[in-house]
Amino acid sequence: MRITVAENAGFCFGVKRALQYAEEAAAKFGEVFSLGPLIHNPQEVERLAHHGIKWVNDINEVEGRHVIIRSHGVSPEVFSASSEKNLEVIDATCPFVKRAQGYAKYLAEKGFSIVIVGDRNHPEVEGIIGWSNHTALVVESAEEAAEIPLGEKVGVIAQTTQPENSFQKVVEVLQRRNPQLKVFNTICHTTAERQNAAAALAKKVDVMFVIGGLNSANTKKLARISRETGTTTFHVEEASDIDVSWLTGVENVGITAGASTPDWIIEEVLQKMMEINEHEEQMTPENSNQSEIPEQELTPEAPEAEP
Ligand code: F3S
Repeated sequence: MRITVAENAGFCFGVKRALQYAEEAAAKFGEVFSLGPLIHNPQEVERLAHHGIKWVNDINEVEGRHVIIRSHGVSPEVFSASSEKNLEVIDATCPFVKRAQGYAKYLAEKGFSIVIVGDRNHPEVEGIIGWSNHTALVVESAEEAAEIPLGEKVGVIAQTTQPENSFQKVVEVLQRRNPQLKVFNTICHTTAERQNAAAALAKKVDVMFVIGGLNSANTKKLARISRETGTTTFHVEEASDIDVSWLTGVENVGITAGASTPDWIIEEVLQKMMEINEHEEQMTPENSNQSEIPEQELTPEAPEAEP
């Protein structure tokens, strides 16, 4: 069995940065609270809790003095509420998300109606809506874009993790309706690269495994992109989710992982696959297939230039 790990699998720059900030804060102050889990990966969240990195649903539930803003960002009201409660804020909003927030603020101040292409219940999108002074409308599909009310001055922004083709489809519909549309493509390039690498690998293998939290929007998108190639795709959170029968008779396995999946979980999945492979080879000694894991960087580089 040959196992290939996609390029750009695992933690993105923004998540790595948020974790680094949180770990530094917890080491310095004993504990730090995020609003919602710091990352969308239950296993990693549990590990972090043991290191003093805890999470609450609401700013009023914070028991300590230090709050960390996740890479998804938050609305300006969260900063005001934190300051009213005399909390010290560590802002780990990803610079790519900050850029989208900045456009939302700018467009709202200039009197534009704002369309955000994204998942309306995702915390990043909720935060961007806040920066638009709560004026932005969210569309999740080209069909919705055909229906929403549009003003004369319209600006469109993307949730950073949107697939490029979904964003472009929405933009085409909006541009037909308003040719003066101002387009701000705020998709994070690491997301696009991860998605392109996943699709390219999925086309070459028999089975794809997408590793990451079942609650992680970007991991779910990777699984969808992989399935759209026609390749059988399993979305797993950790090694113990793998059913041995999924690998029976499989020669080429592809692996990718969401932006919030730590390397240690990817490594555990690889380890389990190699064990399954070894077991299968013992059961069928005539099988001479080689198990191969190409050497590669599991933790992608930071973006060259911050937006
Ligand atoms: Fe930031 Fe892109 Fe990650 S927006 S949080 S680097 S997926």
